[in-house]
Amino acid sequence: MVYLNGEFMPIERAKISVLDRGFIFGDGVYEVIPVYSRRPFRLEEHLVRLRSSLEAIKIGNPHENAKWGELVGRIIAGNPWEDQNVYLQITRGVAKRDHAFPKGLKPTVFMMASELIPPTPELMETGAAAIVLPDFRWLRCDIKSTSLLGNCMLRTQAAEAGCAEAILVREGMLTEASASNVFIVRNGTVLAPPKSHLILPGITYDVVLEILRANAIAHEVRPVGESELRSAEEVWVTSSSREVLPITTLDGRPVGRGENAGKPGPVAKRVHDLYQQFKLSVMRAPVHA
Ligand code: PDD
Repeated sequence: MVYLNGEFMPIERAKISVLDRGFIFGDGVYEVIPVYSRRPFRLEEHLVRLRSSLEAIKIGNPHENAKWGELVGRIIAGNPWEDQNVYLQITRGVAKRDHAFPKGLKPTVFMMASELIPPTPELMETGAAAIVLPDFRWLRCDIKSTSLLGNCMLRTQAAEAGCAEAILVREGMLTEASASNVFIVRNGTVLAPPKSHLILPGITYDVVLEILRANAIAHEVRPVGESELRSAEEVWVTSSSREVLPITTLDGRPVGRGENAGKPGPVAKRVHDLYQQFKLSVMRAPVHA
């Protein structure tokens, strides 16, 4: 079951106009909210980010958070999986084609769910492969826009190279990956690039930083150079669907040195385990309306 403009329906019935600015211009924003045991994880934070994406492109928020919470709850209840990705998209609406934002449109609101399948234990044992590519996307990567052509091109290049992710570098500095944030470990310290207009402020990124802080794991949020990335002891990507996924080869070369080379490192394993515990504690907490 999906939701479109006020109605719940089977996906086959959900239809939009060809003049929808989401279709014509990619003029919209989205969120992907992970759901574990039918409970949305970090819903408030996703709704805060949704609000800032909408503000950045001047679309009025169609709903208050309480209403969004109710709609997300109904989508979860209307779909068969215990663990889901709830996808939520808002476009500016339908209008005659004209680049400048028309005023007074009714935004199109669409929501669907899919099964959330986190990385398998087997993948967590081996880690995933990534390639490093120049980040040629626009300069407002902080907006969670549906205009994802750059990200799609980069991810396709990774897939064609047999890799799970493309890790991106702009002017010699690590930004993020095509659909995830990136952390590295050097000299035992976790490093993460700071939030800026060049990366998406990941909800998982924030959870990981909270976990590092709460467990006194050495970390620094600071710009990370490409050479630091390439000589890191560990590289991980984080996102709502991939959680904390170790990257064990970069451009075909093993990440790390010595006995850990090409294998998930100890810090990644620890943070992954802490992330699982954190999820469980949230799932056990009482549900708020
Ligand atoms: N992608 N950076 C980019 C470019 C992303 O597309 C994503 C998420 C992230 C991680 O954000 P979060 O931790 O809030 O999931 C970082 C989603 C899952 C997607 O497009 O499917």
